[in-house]
Amino acid sequence: MEVLIRENADAGCLLGARIIAQLVRTKPAAVLGLATGRTPLRLYHELIRLHREEGLDFSRVTTFNLDEYVGLPASHEQSYRHFMQENLFRHLDIDPARTHVPDGTAADLQAECRNYEARIAAAGGIDLQLLGLGRNGHIGFNEPTGSLRSRTWVKILSEQTLHDNSAVFGTLAEMPRHAITMGVGTILESHQLLLIAFGPAKARAVLHMIEGPLAAICPASALQLHPRAIVVLDEASAAALQYADHYRWVDRNKLDWQRFT
Ligand code: F6R
Repeated sequence: MEVLIRENADAGCLLGARIIAQLVRTKPAAVLGLATGRTPLRLYHELIRLHREEGLDFSRVTTFNLDEYVGLPASHEQSYRHFMQENLFRHLDIDPARTHVPDGTAADLQAECRNYEARIAAAGGIDLQLLGLGRNGHIGFNEPTGSLRSRTWVKILSEQTLHDNSAVFGTLAEMPRHAITMGVGTILESHQLLLIAFGPAKARAVLHMIEGPLAAICPASALQLHPRAIVVLDEASAAALQYADHYRWVDRNKLDWQRFT
């Protein structure tokens, strides 16, 4: 795992956007895996700026989002399809037909999960998957103790996740209890992973993910198995790490071609 600690979330998001931009420049038809949530918003703002001001071209890019709430149509303000539309897609030259978010309103949810896997495979797999991190160590909506080999499936959200995400729903009762999510196994098949996590509330999950044992109790610890996993942190989310000085040392001593430009 490559751990990159930056002074704050802003610097971390700019770095994350540079990593994605570098991929899109070298592979214009890249397949990107995307995430929703508070964490990637600044990164998406930067991608929009790079598109507007530096001509970063998304016209041939394909995207697959990690997850979607069960029961929410694309038109619902809290659906992840709506989130992506508002916060990224409508600001880019991306072809809407190439943007994929699981359909949480599908009559047959299990068929939708299989179909989502098939669409990822038909696109040639994901080149880079962007991930956020739940306070409980979840990635996508793969909650603690779920299988580390899971494929796209329907998950019951944990009480902590309901609580963490409920603010935007008004009341807890209005929030869906289920989501379709790529499985941990699906995520691990991406050619490259880029996880971003900022702020003190993530410090415990970051510690478990990077330095804890590989264990389903922290689904993000599965990143330890991936040969090309980059984790971008700020000082606050990195605060509990025992080997933070080592990660900084490695970061400072990279060869030129190992750096993100
Ligand atoms: C979002 C997702 C989740 C979030 C995680 C962190 O598509 O899959 O795993 O990345 O819950 O959320 P924020 O960024 O809001 O702290």
